[in-house]
Amino acid sequence: MALRKDFLWGGATAANQCEGGYKEGGRGLANVDVAPHGEDRFPVLAGKMKMFECDEKHYYPAHEAIDMYHNYKEDIKLFAEMGFKCYRLSIAWTRIFPTGEETTPNEEGLKFYEDLFDECLKYGIEPLVTICHFDVPMYLVEKYGAWRDRKLVDLYVKYCEAIFTRYKDKVKYWLTFNEINMILHLPFIGAGLYIEEGKNEEQIKYQAAHHQLVASALVTKLAREINPEFKIGCMLAAGNTYANTCNPLDVWKSMEKDRENYFFIDVQSRGEYPSYAIKELERNGINIVMEEDDKSILKDNTVDFISFSYYSSRLTSADPKVESQTEGNVFATLKNQYLDASEWGWQIDPLGLRITMNSLYDRYQKPLFIVENGLGAVDTPNESGYVSDDYRIDYLRAHIKAMIDAVELDGVDLLGYTPWGCIDLVSASTGEMKKRYGFIYVDKDNAGNGTLKRSKKKSFDWYKKVIESNGKNL
Ligand code: BG6
Repeated sequence: MALRKDFLWGGATAANQCEGGYKEGGRGLANVDVAPHGEDRFPVLAGKMKMFECDEKHYYPAHEAIDMYHNYKEDIKLFAEMGFKCYRLSIAWTRIFPTGEETTPNEEGLKFYEDLFDECLKYGIEPLVTICHFDVPMYLVEKYGAWRDRKLVDLYVKYCEAIFTRYKDKVKYWLTFNEINMILHLPFIGAGLYIEEGKNEEQIKYQAAHHQLVASALVTKLAREINPEFKIGCMLAAGNTYANTCNPLDVWKSMEKDRENYFFIDVQSRGEYPSYAIKELERNGINIVMEEDDKSILKDNTVDFISFSYYSSRLTSADPKVESQTEGNVFATLKNQYLDASEWGWQIDPLGLRITMNSLYDRYQKPLFIVENGLGAVDTPNESGYVSDDYRIDYLRAHIKAMIDAVELDGVDLLGYTPWGCIDLVSASTGEMKKRYGFIYVDKDNAGNGTLKRSKKKSFDWYKKVIESNGKNL
């Protein structure tokens, strides 16, 4: 079995990391807008430092980002030149409902995405839309404490109704929440949660997660009512956790670590809280307040496919003396002696992608979609502005090869592959521009200087050939 003939090759971005235009078109302020670049970013993302408005002292990279708000036609044209069949993007909630509480959607916001989708469709590019990629209207953060309040469920459903109705003939693939497991690690960016000192953090996070899970199921139902052709996916920050040794204590620890993440997808895909989570929540004294219908809502409205990001595998040990940590997507992990790492310490493990795909497919038996993968690296253009990013090509080649093995040799059903940051954009974790993932270079630095000019990197022509040959020419 080879890759499907209609395999969705493409690339992925998120509104807050590429659009900019944060005050244009009637857009309201979102949590992502108040996350600065620099040393205060992490405490803000983690919900430990209150930054509910922007000040003069900080630089906020989401405000302009790479200004795709004004450049999307040029950018989509370049995607089309690479042969994209699919473009994953997110809608900024605050373009549609600036505070989240308006009764009618903002027409200018709706029109912006309508034009953008038309631009994609003009080239035969299928939009894959993330409904919520780390954004919550700041108004709702301040008024309700964001997703900790059940009220957010209704407001999110209202937002989805507006976009499902408006784009029902233009968009087929939807993801309800980007990296839904992010809420456990960076709760402000994952769910707009600011956690006051002395509060029961786990209680707040799991209650908010419950609200997101119910909201996800409710809009899955709504989506099918509005257009039965819609395909709804969940989205996990994936990457299997290996055990540091064959000591059963390490193996058990790695299983527990994976379950922290699987929990969300277990609910979204199988429709109920898994037994291990019920027990663990009980043991930790976490009491999730549910409404009467919640269980049946979750049960009756499971997702059609499982999407995920994969940058790296993870490693854990039950032995507290083993502490050689390195960075990774969403959270730090132990160093794996068998793997090299990126300049940001994210370990490079192509076979880990095949392992992760098999674990997810074994567990859920639903089609998978790789909606993020890639290498964040420093690119140095030569005198004529050209970036020879062979390191990126090497990373992607090895991962695509592993992905094809999972399909051809293991029979995993895979819908598509949209590597992250197909055009350079702002890094979610660090707020930097210099951590680049793109096939297209954007002239801008960490401090916001640059012409924003786009240029093709070496990987641009390479990826074009990969798509043309449906993954044969690597
Ligand atoms: C994922 C996110 O966590 O990883 C993206 O969905 C993010 O928004 C990507 O940009 C890469 O992470 P970073 O921190 O290198 O931008």
